[in-house]
Amino acid sequence: MNRRRQGGPPASPPNPSSRPSAAELVAAARGARDRAYAPYSGFRVGAALLTEQGDVITAANVENASYGLAICAERSAVVAAVAAGSRSFLAIAVAGNGPDPVTPCGACRQVLNEFPRGAELEVLCAGESGDALVTTTLGDLLPDSFGPESLQAREP
Ligand code: THU
Repeated sequence: MNRRRQGGPPASPPNPSSRPSAAELVAAARGARDRAYAPYSGFRVGAALLTEQGDVITAANVENASYGLAICAERSAVVAAVAAGSRSFLAIAVAGNGPDPVTPCGACRQVLNEFPRGAELEVLCAGESGDALVTTTLGDLLPDSFGPESLQAREP
């Protein structure tokens, strides 16, 4: 049930020639991963979020001595992008420091689902190095989601 969003900014993609490739987005996520603060898990993650305007916003996970306060790379990237003025995203690349591609956790899927493209957001998942890449969409990762349109259907 991948519903298209109503409202929000128009969903026109940027000039394709200026859009970074999947490999470039993954490289940006890996670069951000170097700035992760992950002293407790040692699991370093970087994320690179491509905005509708064609900007690439990068972030990394930030842990805390109070373990439950760790903030994932994906949510850090969303917060940074919104603070910079973007609320519509075309793709996100995520790169961990393990051998296997990292897919966003459930909380991050829900946070990504908040914004206009929702289910159509491309999600590129990578590991430490190499070409192994899982390419999917938020709709596949979070089917039958609860989102802004769910609240619009509430009783008055
Ligand atoms: N983490 C992320 O940053 N993104 C994910 O998609 C999965 C998990 C972080 C949270 C925590 O700092 C560490 O990885 C271990 O769970």
